Amino acid sequence: MKNLAGSHWAKKCEGEGRIEWCLGVCQEYFFNGGKRKALEKDARRAVLNNHQSAACEQMLASGLSISNGNMPNQEFHLPGKIRLLDVGSCYNPFVKYEDFLAVGIDIVPAVETVYKCDFLNLQIQRPLQLAPDAIEAFLRQLKNPIDYLPAELFHVVVFSLLLSYFPSRYQRWICCKKAHELLSLNGLLLIITPDSSHQNRHAMMMKSWKIAIESLGFKRMTYSKFSHMHLMAFRKTSLKTTSDLITRNYPDMLYIPQDFNYVGEEEYSSPSSARSELEDEQLACTFSELPEAPYDSDSGESQTSSMSFYEFEDPILLLS
Ligand SMILES: C[S@@+](CC[C@H](N)C(=O)[O-])C[C@H]1O[C@@H](n2cnc3c(N)ncnc32)[C@H](O)[C@@H]1O
Repeated sequence: MKNLAGSHWAKKCEGEGRIEWCLGVCQEYFFNGGKRKALEKDARRAVLNNHQSAACEQMLASGLSISNGNMPNQEFHLPGKIRLLDVGSCYNPFVKYEDFLAVGIDIVPAVETVYKCDFLNLQIQRPLQLAPDAIEAFLRQLKNPIDYLPAELFHVVVFSLLLSYFPSRYQRWICCKKAHELLSLNGLLLIITPDSSHQNRHAMMMKSWKIAIESLGFKRMTYSKFSHMHLMAFRKTSLKTTSDLITRNYPDMLYIPQDFNYVGEEEYSSPSSARSELEDEQLACTFSELPEAPYDSDSGESQTSSMSFYEFEDPILLLS
């Protein structure tokens, strides 16, 4: 696989990096006025809807007065680093970026700097009542393995190629709910999920993800489709979970095709279990940023692929 990724598919995979996408979204939001714009938009919407109190609450939580319509950028510029939790981190790809204080956790860490943690069983404690520099000091002294973390600790939670690992929608849901608890107000949940098919092919599925995740108290801020993945940024817009679709048995919640053992004709043209060249390409591109891969990006503008990664990888096998 390493040879395949390095020699044959490197060119096809150039230019689209999921880690760089996360970095760009965070820099834009926390350092270049994105957060200010998002809150101003909320405020305008609230005024239009005659629900000013919600907007006021948001701004007060951000330490701002709403009397001035022009919110200065520096009010939103984080004084310290962006505190980022990378769940299912594997090889700690965010740790090299200055802008982040990155905490990588994984049930099976691939490198020493990643903490061992089963996110599904992580216990969430009461929030720390500390100044930002004290919170940074707390994060720099975490002990391995991690079984507990305080709520509202992070500015960003990343699920990169994580959710499709889980065999049930309920587990994906639990992950998103925990992310909501771990984020501070207006923090970002970044979700990247593999799919090599054309953007519209699984549009309904991605819509179901949006509905389910927003019901937890998020608002989707950004959506991108790369050749081999969907990339979404959700902003935590309320401290409390606003509704709970799982208790209402929302059937479309966070599903992926293999939840239904779905084997569409277009996906499997051959009954053979051997991977086709196309499948090899997709697999190589998906793993292009894992450690020791001899190149570091994935792309190729082709959207002609008809099989997504998670349609030929068994998440239960991947978990073992
Ligand atoms: C496909 S890898 C993604 C690695 C990396 N995030 C990336 O984008 O390349 C999925 C990772 O999720 C981890 N994982 C699976 N279940 C987990 C759990 N319950 N808690 C924490 N990590 C988990 C796996 O060990 C694996 O390293």
